[in-house]
Order: sequence, then structure tokens, then C-alpha cells
Amino acid sequence: MQKIHASITAVGGYVPDYVLTNAELETMMDTTDEWIQSRTGIQERRILKGAGKGSSDMAVEAVKNLLAKRGISPKEIDLVICATTTPDMQFPATANVICDKAGMTNAWGYDVSAACSGFIFALTTGSQFIETGKHKKVIVIGVDKMSSILNYEDRTTAIIFGDGAGAVLLEPDTEGYGIIDSLQRTDGSGRVFLHQKAGGSVKPATIETVMNKEHYVYQEGQQVFKFAVKNMADVAAEIMGRNGLTADNVHWLVPHQANKRIINATADRMNLAPEKVMVNIHRYGNTTNGTLPLCLWEWENKMHRGDNIILAAFGGGFTWGSTYIRWAYDTPAKA
Ligand code: UT7
Repeated sequence: MQKIHASITAVGGYVPDYVLTNAELETMMDTTDEWIQSRTGIQERRILKGAGKGSSDMAVEAVKNLLAKRGISPKEIDLVICATTTPDMQFPATANVICDKAGMTNAWGYDVSAACSGFIFALTTGSQFIETGKHKKVIVIGVDKMSSILNYEDRTTAIIFGDGAGAVLLEPDTEGYGIIDSLQRTDGSGRVFLHQKAGGSVKPATIETVMNKEHYVYQEGQQVFKFAVKNMADVAAEIMGRNGLTADNVHWLVPHQANKRIINATADRMNLAPEKVMVNIHRYGNTTNGTLPLCLWEWENKMHRGDNIILAAFGGGFTWGSTYIRWAYDTPAKA
């Protein structure tokens, strides 16, 4: 019998309505639209507004979108894995909250924390439950409300991030489609360049940590950039090489959307033409765990059964990784 692969059979997405433009950022900090666009490629990003709204609220919308497209009940879902850096709260896991809010009452769930590589790590984890035959329907979510941990006085960091959610459904495939290969890497020594200083067990929240603005993203952009450019391109090239893929038979690159210059460097290393590269950073910025599934969501109608697709990401930790997917379907079911 053919090996069971985990194939993506539906994609859902959600971005909040509020559009934070570079022009509005110019009124909030010492920056310019010209600087942001030339250094990052970003024109605008979405922000989740409203008291009491968190990552789970965006994820639930993405999940509902996915279930409607696939025409299945939330009760059919076996497992939900949520990749997020901005969980609703420290505990319980946001996956649990999402299951409750979306009516996935027969599913169990947990969160994966791997910063911008979280979706790739969660996809790899979720695919194992399908490949072993243990589960039939697994939802993998990438979601972040980055605006909840941004210091809008830090012009170098705040300008790149936005809020959003994407989700994919994994089901068994025995015809050779689905997730064919994946690789993941971590290097904890990179944590000094990108982290949140307080709020964890090392430095619990106090009045001082709040006053010192230690609950925001701390990033040494140039350092992260240097590692991101090299490592994201390396893993993409490695997964192509070990699967006999070339620029000619790769149909799509789905890169993490952190900076257009990093995306270009990865595509160049793969010798890929720009039209094969999914890019929506100009409209959504860096949604951390949300970038990859949001790309799949937006490009769903353009992908075809049998397309060779490479996902690649790099993020805090450091973490990085790449996934090779043979896409399983042509036309998505109508929502
Ligand atoms: O998503 C996962 C991981 N994250 C990443 O992959 C992000 C990687 N890093 C980056 O994308 C870039 O480093 C940033 C976009 C964050 C920053 O761009 P950069 O080209 O590395 O800028 P920089 O920090 O080297 O700053 C260059 C100059 C500085 O001025 P001086 O010292 O040369 O006079 C900054 O003060 O640009 C200045 N600057 C700004 N100017 C206008 C920094 N931020 C801004 C700003 N507007 N928003």
C-alpha cells in the first residue's frame, strides 16, 4: 500500500478590518513611508481592534472559513494545533479556546511556540498524526496578534508587524500528494537578538517590567536579518536538493513574510522567477505565525493538483525550516 501522506485539503484565513498604513505610522513615530517601503516592502498591515479580542478570535474566523469550504462539521475535527507567539493568555493553550469557540468538541489541542517558524513546526507535528493513521482530520493554525506586544515608540521593530490568522486542514492521502518532506532547525543562542524580556518565569511581570517596556518585542533587526537571509535560503535549497527539485519544477515558493529583501534573497538562491513567489507583505506586513497560511489562503485558487510547493521560514529562537508539499487539489469547494 502507498504510504499515507498528510495532504492539505482546505485553507482558511482571516485578517482584521483595520488597516494601519505607513502614512498613519508617520503620525505615530519618526518614520517615513519611503523608508518603510524601501527597507521592508511593507505598505500597510492589519490590526485587531476591540477590547477583549485576542488571537483566538482571528483563528476561529479562519477555522470557520476552512470548515465551510470543506463542507464539514467542527465535530469531525480530531486535533487542533495552534502556532502562536501571542496566545490569548499564558495558559491554557489558545488551541483549547479555539476548539471551544468554534464548536470542535471532539478535538484535543495544544499550542506550538516557535515564533515565525511556528506554522512549519506545527505542520510537521500535525502531519505525523495523519501519517501514523492515528487521526483523520487535523487543523493546523498560524495566528498572531502582534499589535499586542509591539512598542509603537520603537520605530525599527513596530513597523514590520501586523495581525492575522490562517488555517489548513490535513487529511490522509495515499496517491502521493501532500506533505512529502520537511526539515526544522533551532539555535537557541540566537535568542538574544529577538525575544520578549519579561512576563515569563525568568522575569515575571512587575510594575517595573511594565514601566521598562519589557513586555514588548525586542529585536536587533540587523542581526536577525543576517541570519534570516542565510538560513531561510539554505533550508529551501536543501529541501529542493534532497527531493530532486529544480527551479523548473518548483511551482511556488511560500516564504515567511518578514522583509521583502529576505524573500528576494531566498527566491534568488532557488533561481525562482518572481511570479512563482507568493508575496503579500505589502498588505499584511509580518504576521509572524500567520504569514505562510495567509499566503496559501490567498493563492489557493492559483495552485493546482500536483504543484510542487516549498514553504520556508525563519524566526525568533532562532528557529527555521522548510516544507515540501505536492499540492492535492485544483479547485477549492465553494464556501
Ligand atoms: O520575522 C522574523 C524575524 N524578523 C526578521 O526577519 C526581521 C529582520 N530584520 C529586518 O527586516 C530589518 O533589520 C529591519 C526592517 C527590522 C530594520 O531595517 P534595517 O535596514 O536593518 O535598519 P537598521 O536597523 O540598520 O537601521 C538603519 C537606519 C538607522 O539610522 P542610522 O543609524 O543609519 O542613522 C535607523 O535609526 O535606519 C534608521 N531607522 C529608521 N528610519 C526611519 C530604523 N527604523 C526606521 C524607521 N524609519 N522606521
